[in-house]
Amino acid sequence: MNNFHFVNPTKILFGQGQLANLAQEIPSGAKVLVLYGGGSVQKTGLLDAVKQALKSHAVGEFGGIEPNPTYETLMKAVALIRQDGYDFLLAVGGGSVIDGTKFVAAAVPFTQGDPWDLLAKHLPVTTALPFGTVLTLPATGSEMNSGAVVTRREIKAKLAFGSPALFPKFSVLDPVYTYTLPAKQVGNGVVDAFVHIMEQYLTSPAEAKVQDRFAEGLLLTLIEDGPRALADGTNYAVRANLMWTATLALNGLIGTGVPQDWSTHMVGHEITVLYGLDHAQTLAIVLPSMLDAMKAEKHDKLLQYGERVWGIRSGTPEERMAEAIAQTRSFFEAMQVPTRFSSYGLGKEVVDPILANLESHKMVKLGEGGRVTPDVVRRVLGASL
Ligand code: NZQ
Ligand code: ZN
Repeated sequence: MNNFHFVNPTKILFGQGQLANLAQEIPSGAKVLVLYGGGSVQKTGLLDAVKQALKSHAVGEFGGIEPNPTYETLMKAVALIRQDGYDFLLAVGGGSVIDGTKFVAAAVPFTQGDPWDLLAKHLPVTTALPFGTVLTLPATGSEMNSGAVVTRREIKAKLAFGSPALFPKFSVLDPVYTYTLPAKQVGNGVVDAFVHIMEQYLTSPAEAKVQDRFAEGLLLTLIEDGPRALADGTNYAVRANLMWTATLALNGLIGTGVPQDWSTHMVGHEITVLYGLDHAQTLAIVLPSMLDAMKAEKHDKLLQYGERVWGIRSGTPEERMAEAIAQTRSFFEAMQVPTRFSSYGLGKEVVDPILANLESHKMVKLGEGGRVTPDVVRRVLGASL
């Protein structure tokens, strides 16, 4: 196990009816801006419930944050906050709304130039407006981590950034708010969380038994309850388990002291910004082929994963690794997230533009060993058509 420091200051208010505790988590004199997406929280009545819960605070709202939040839209929120003096933010929605709120929280106090440079030039985020979240889609883990991904459409860039200053102060996780999710987003959420775990687990052995068992436990929960969530939209126990699994998949805990990959995610971001696929759809396409391309480096963990998660114990090591990858692909398909470019109407024309974008974002040595080079990515994309 490698040395590590671990801190996560986000307070989690988990379970049915936790919105009743929202007001006490925000300073009484705060001027609160509620940020949300394209309207699902209005349709479901959650926005009204949030405003009711905050009736003793000064509250404003900013809607319209799109999936894969854009710099262009978020800078409008920055202008509104600077103009009207909001000093506490509340994100109500999925990962796009929460990530967008993190960018806004960092951008408002950033006066040394274009806030986009926080991403493009990796400038440090030393201070940020305080914010909390009310999560409506279990997927990203953004509700309990300090990272965010923002898109700048005009330059076709989707980049990540992070800072200890960007942990939410608190997050309300009420599984009932996920009942309104369309099947497509239930599938996306399960696949995204699954791949988060794989990026931190399916690497090279690190004698990290606790992290491995935690990761395997989270994967088994997704495999058991993912299909149940598609079959039954209002099973509280199933939704509660998926919600807590997705949060624990990327709050830093299972990534402590172990090597991390993230090559599938970096390739995925380029596919989303170039071709508009949902985040999880890109991961479902790339991961199975990436595991196959990197099976020599990932040999031991692939066999452990196959045995402990899928019960694969017979056959040659080659056969067992191939079976583990095949089971992974079938699971994504069973969650209604197709794993081939052709299923999204795309073909071999995507390969060069994706490689060019990776090159321009200096993402040419990816993965836990830096061995995911443009040649490897070309092979991976070619095997995913
Ligand atoms: O915009 P609204 O109208 O709210 O509708 C959303 C959106 O259209 C809808 N939705 C959300 N909750 C709902 C609902 N519809 C009905 N009922 C509900 N309860 O679902 C759609 C997708 O929402 P979005 O927030 O985009 O999805 P997700 O949570 O998957 O977030 C994806 C974004 O997070 C980034 C991705 O790159 C992408 O931009 N990620 C953030 C990470 C992080 N901060 O750590 C890590 C991830 O790897 C990922 O990169
Ligand atoms: Zn992800």
